[in-house]
Amino acid sequence: RKGKSPEEVVKKYLQKVRNPPEEDCTICMESLGGPSGYKGPGVAGVARAESVGRLTRCGHQYHVQCLVAMYNNGNRDGSLQCPTCKSIYGVKTGSQPPGKMEYHVIPHSLPGHPDCRTIRIIYTIPPGIQGPEHPNPGKPFTARGFPRHCYLPDSEKGRKVLRLLLVAWDRRLLFSVGTSSTTGESDTVIWNEVHHKTEFGSNLTGHGYPDPGHLDNVLEELRAQGITEEDSLPR
Ligand code: APR
Ligand code: ZN
Repeated sequence: RKGKSPEEVVKKYLQKVRNPPEEDCTICMESLGGPSGYKGPGVAGVARAESVGRLTRCGHQYHVQCLVAMYNNGNRDGSLQCPTCKSIYGVKTGSQPPGKMEYHVIPHSLPGHPDCRTIRIIYTIPPGIQGPEHPNPGKPFTARGFPRHCYLPDSEKGRKVLRLLLVAWDRRLLFSVGTSSTTGESDTVIWNEVHHKTEFGSNLTGHGYPDPGHLDNVLEELRAQGITEEDSLPR
């Protein structure tokens, strides 16, 4: 989608390693002292099979060809995530299908948050046809239970979570297309890695209030997607 080739993207985040350590590449499980064990398509002519790179911030080392193969298997958005420590290079985006995210404040308190009102988020995603970033491109996907309503306390921390969720929505990270672990249905829209509370006054599903750790958990899950407070300032 972007102008850069997979090799250019990957190399942007790497330093060259001249003397590879006596360790295995955790992508292909072969020694970093020998060639990449990756045998699939898409890496011919990319570096030499023996080339090893070190990710600039976290320092983890891999065969360059293995990283390019990993990048090719993802959604090729110009970002790279270290498979060992999950550090994100560039801006991670996801494969959330088109739809809309809306929110408003309702004049009721959530269990556990008696002193403030409540933010209700409404996600609307219609069914559609899977794109190249989805498990079965060209095949339809279903979308169950939309609009999905979610709740946050309208407190300082709840509003911060909302700001970061808006960034996550723009980066297509809140939903994906796959197999629902609740229903077993495949080729359907599912929640992706960032937990939401979909119950208001009860907790029958375990996705309701009270849950004192919820906001901190969500902030941690957003951080794992590369989203922190700095991302939410200029909108
Ligand atoms: N509310 C919020 N989160 C949920 C719910 C729920 N009712 N059910 C599952 N999750 C969380 C799971 O804990 C998991 O982390 O979503 C993640 C993916 O679970 P799946 O079951 O694969 O997701 P999905 O099929 O999208 O959700 C099932 O959630 O909002 C409802 O209407 C939706 O009934 C559907 C249910
Ligand atoms: Zn390797």
